[in-house]
Amino acid sequence: MLANRWRTRLACLLLLSSDLALAARPRPHALKRRNPSYSPLSDPSLEQLVALSSLDDALDYNDPKSLLAKILVPRTVGSANLTRVQGVVEGHFRKLGWHVEKDAFDDDTPYGRKFFTNLVFTHDPSAPRRLVLSAHLDSKYFETHPEDQFVGATDSAAPCAMMLDLATALTPWLDGRKKRVQEAGGEEGFDGQGETLQIVFFDGEEAFKEWTHTDSIYGARHLVEKWSETDSSPSAIRSTPRSPLRRISHLVLLDLLGAPNPLIRNFFPNTGWLFDEFLHSEERLGVTGYLWDGFEGQAYTEQKGKLGVRERSFFVPRASGQMQGWAGQIEDDHVPFVQQGVPVVHLISVPFPSVWHTIKDDASALDLPTIKAWALILRLTVAEYLGLDPTGRLQNANVKRNKGELFDEAG
Ligand SMILES: *[C@@H]1O[C@H](CO)[C@@H](O)[C@H](O)[C@H]1NC(C)=O
Ligand SMILES: [Zn+2]
Repeated sequence: MLANRWRTRLACLLLLSSDLALAARPRPHALKRRNPSYSPLSDPSLEQLVALSSLDDALDYNDPKSLLAKILVPRTVGSANLTRVQGVVEGHFRKLGWHVEKDAFDDDTPYGRKFFTNLVFTHDPSAPRRLVLSAHLDSKYFETHPEDQFVGATDSAAPCAMMLDLATALTPWLDGRKKRVQEAGGEEGFDGQGETLQIVFFDGEEAFKEWTHTDSIYGARHLVEKWSETDSSPSAIRSTPRSPLRRISHLVLLDLLGAPNPLIRNFFPNTGWLFDEFLHSEERLGVTGYLWDGFEGQAYTEQKGKLGVRERSFFVPRASGQMQGWAGQIEDDHVPFVQQGVPVVHLISVPFPSVWHTIKDDASALDLPTIKAWALILRLTVAEYLGLDPTGRLQNANVKRNKGELFDEAG
């Protein structure tokens, strides 16, 4: 990840952010227009969602058996360690029954030809549209010791582990929804589901040397190029988008998360409503007491506005477009997707964690309650986005929709 021009302005933005009022939630009809499957979770379902799987199994980096502990090793592009970690990730999704796709390729780097593999997991590959969650699995290469032991705990081991937790937790709900839709004869004019969850682990995000357009985001650049190609096979489904890239309803990119007190900003006006959904998930989970031990209701509401406490809200509410000018200033795996018109939400802490690209970005930089809070925020937002509530009604069964509505990007 690269960021330069804004660094000097961070201090003043930090002060600004604490004064901003909470952004108003978009009206449900506006949400539905952008995302026909959207359905808010009932209170009993929220309780279930939190208990769907053990957060510790995936995220407790102090336990060597946890998934996050297995990722927390130096895992540079092309290394045996990265192959081993990729195997852990792939095995996890195979066990859950997801579709596995490996995008393997080679490319020139400052150190010669290197081999890369993006990992793409899809819950229901027959669904025409995909909500994509993504992060990079590789760790940054350093030539000399001790920096060669860099494990990138926030960059991006912890975000990858959060996505593994998301898959574990939501698979039963995703399976259940798929079955209900099939029994109802499909939705949105398709035989099956209109949209599914896809989880992508990029390879080669980090620059080998100095960040340039050719020495960075190798995996994301390759995947966008590959996914831009129009399908040549005739589709039985008239309104299926013609390239894999066009099937992405939104790409959510996680990076530099897992340290306490992140500050997440909205960079893209066309996805502001989805940014608000993440913020709303934090609010609901916080008020109900699921995020932070000892804080719920009014106590949470007071705590989340304080500076210097772990429970402070992760999000800078969007207001009057003041963050929008930053959109082009943080280079990360989302850039080639944005350039091709894919709607993106970039969940990255700005300012970056203080340990960024130093040997100190290890387990000691992480905060387990913060990582668990992130995992729950992801679970709730994705469950609502895809309408996974097992007690909810299917709102889109057999309803034919105008294709233009499904890909509406208006802000
Ligand atoms: C692979 O990971 C181990 C920790 O499990 C670490 O000690 C070793 O240095 C790593 N190898 C490389 C080449 O980075
Ligand atoms: Zn990095």
